[in-house]
Amino acid sequence: MKKRIFSRKDLLAIKGLGEDDLTLILDTAESFKEISRRPIKKVPTLRGQTIINLFYEPSTRTRSSFEIAAKRLSADAINISASTSSVVKGETLLDTVKNLQAMAPDIIVIRHACVGAPHLIASRVDARVVNAGDGANEHPSQALLDLLTIREHKKNFAGLKVAIIGDIAHSRVARSNMHALPLLGAEVRVCGPPTMLPLRMDAFPGVSTCASPEEALEGVDVVMMLRIQLERQDRTLFPSVNEYARLFGLNASRLKLAKKDAIVMHPGPMNRGVEISSAVADGERSVILDQVENGVAVRMAILYLLGGIAE
Ligand code: NCD
Repeated sequence: MKKRIFSRKDLLAIKGLGEDDLTLILDTAESFKEISRRPIKKVPTLRGQTIINLFYEPSTRTRSSFEIAAKRLSADAINISASTSSVVKGETLLDTVKNLQAMAPDIIVIRHACVGAPHLIASRVDARVVNAGDGANEHPSQALLDLLTIREHKKNFAGLKVAIIGDIAHSRVARSNMHALPLLGAEVRVCGPPTMLPLRMDAFPGVSTCASPEEALEGVDVVMMLRIQLERQDRTLFPSVNEYARLFGLNASRLKLAKKDAIVMHPGPMNRGVEISSAVADGERSVILDQVENGVAVRMAILYLLGGIAE
């Protein structure tokens, strides 16, 4: 594959990227998908490169798919989780990162509960930095895999109606998608309990707020459901899980309001019976596992575009 230029050192956020950047990453990811279907799922593209996955928050899909992506490109990948590192002995983030930098990694993938942690370390290290989720701020690789999944099912974004329902205020997935989807021409509607909506919606041009999930779902092409981010809430923002499920959960009868061919997405981890019923999560409109498959391809594209050596 001929190397095309990605103009940045790091991938820290969707905000600030252009339509061309998003399209370049999506096209590159699309071309990588077939590698995962080969009997020998490996290409030499990033041979000799070292990638460190530094995770200060729990992760299943994001961490394992960055690792698989690195290995399918023949990079050496190592994983550090805060709970088993010297962080528990009191080492600061900057000290940890300076020590890792001394081992000459090419790319550091970081997830951290603090907004801006990836930006801070990107300014201090030579390695390229990828944000794998910073607090409630952004999760760019998740939005990119969501975009790839939507593009595969709906062909293009112009005029597409997307409903994002749940804990919008605390969701970095929602935030990255609220920047990405309007940039590509989609119309985004968000809906959740008033206590879980962002205070300032003017930061998201092209995104509107709906009072009820029924209003949000009416005639949409894509439904994206979100988990309640209890770990980012300092007080109870809703009366009970049962009431939340009744008022905001996606079930088969609510889904009928969307277009007949609407797809259902969820970044995971799902709380079945809360934001989404099992019938919908496992139903024929669900593309949740397609999102996971695309996660590997998108992360291969990101690592390749940041770290690849032109061939
Ligand atoms: C999301 C995250 O960590 O922000 N999960 C993920 O990366 N697939 C969403 C969530 O935790 O609810």
